[in-house]
Amino acid sequence: MTQQTKLTVQALQWTGEALKVLDQRQLPETIIFDDYRDAAGVTDAIATMRVRGAPAIGIAAAYGVALSVIQHTAEDPVHWQQKVAADIDMLAKSRPTAVNLFWALEQMKTLLDRPLASPVEAFIECAEKIHADDISANTKMGELGADLLADVKGVMTHCNTGALATGGYGTALGVIRSAYQRRPINVYAGETRPWLQGARLTVWELAQDGIPVTLLADSAAAWLMKSGAIDWVIVGADRIAANGDTANKIGTYSLAVLAKQHGVKVMVVAPTTTIDWSIDNGDRIEIEQRNQNELLPACFIKEGSLVSAWNPVFDVTPAELISAIVTERGVVLNPAEQGIRGLKDVI
Ligand code: MRU
Repeated sequence: MTQQTKLTVQALQWTGEALKVLDQRQLPETIIFDDYRDAAGVTDAIATMRVRGAPAIGIAAAYGVALSVIQHTAEDPVHWQQKVAADIDMLAKSRPTAVNLFWALEQMKTLLDRPLASPVEAFIECAEKIHADDISANTKMGELGADLLADVKGVMTHCNTGALATGGYGTALGVIRSAYQRRPINVYAGETRPWLQGARLTVWELAQDGIPVTLLADSAAAWLMKSGAIDWVIVGADRIAANGDTANKIGTYSLAVLAKQHGVKVMVVAPTTTIDWSIDNGDRIEIEQRNQNELLPACFIKEGSLVSAWNPVFDVTPAELISAIVTERGVVLNPAEQGIRGLKDVI
């Protein structure tokens, strides 16, 4: 973490023996942290969205592995590696779309094969580095993204991509934070149905930082663009394919299609840990389907109900609808034309 990075909200806090998680299901009404002391607890916190957002999921999972090592080296000093490997498999099943989860687990897994004098210290150190590197990446992306916003009047964001969704500061919201520090801009946040990450989390986070924000229903986005109030839609990502196709919160694709119609630009902001170099395009990204009861009105949640719900929680925006991908390694303008492979080898 750089000295300058100001973290208003820290949703994930490592105490040395437990992971403190700000329960995002209860925001903004209630601010409550729960302590997790084993990988099963962290898996449940991710699956139930107490912790959410691609980078935060990866960081929480890394600490989950560290907790597993603390537990199993104490319980079974001889066979602890097998137990930790089983916990890693369990954590990997918590959510399917955010590639940061699998990336972070891979980093932790490499330690399992190494002879370690102090396994507990080594695993904790690795998780803390994943956390700190994410904050540094966010700070860097904030500055790079803000450079693209020199003349803008207004921007719209979707979902929550801030400190709550990352190690701290944020991806798309980090860019908005950095841009606002340079000069006030009008910030609009879509509600982000059905889980209301925008209405509950983004507006709360911005208000914590003293940044004014205007909330709108997702269905009002076209009309907002038509009014000329915004120049950019700025979003995060859960997985970016090697051609720049980007999976993000359901509704991102709709915004990108609307943006094209209205001459509004689309910026995707994500650390390179969100890029899945193993897939050529977005068709191979698994889209999480969540329980229909997250969407259904309570009166239809009953045996024999004739009303069901379709609840995909991510969609894929084709690279050709994206004007810029901002990473900590640099910015790719018009990724469909430029390609993003160049980011792979940048240190
Ligand atoms: O279902 P969620 O709330 O975990 O989805 C989060 C998003 O889609 C974010 O936009 C994405 O993870 C980027 S967060 C920096």
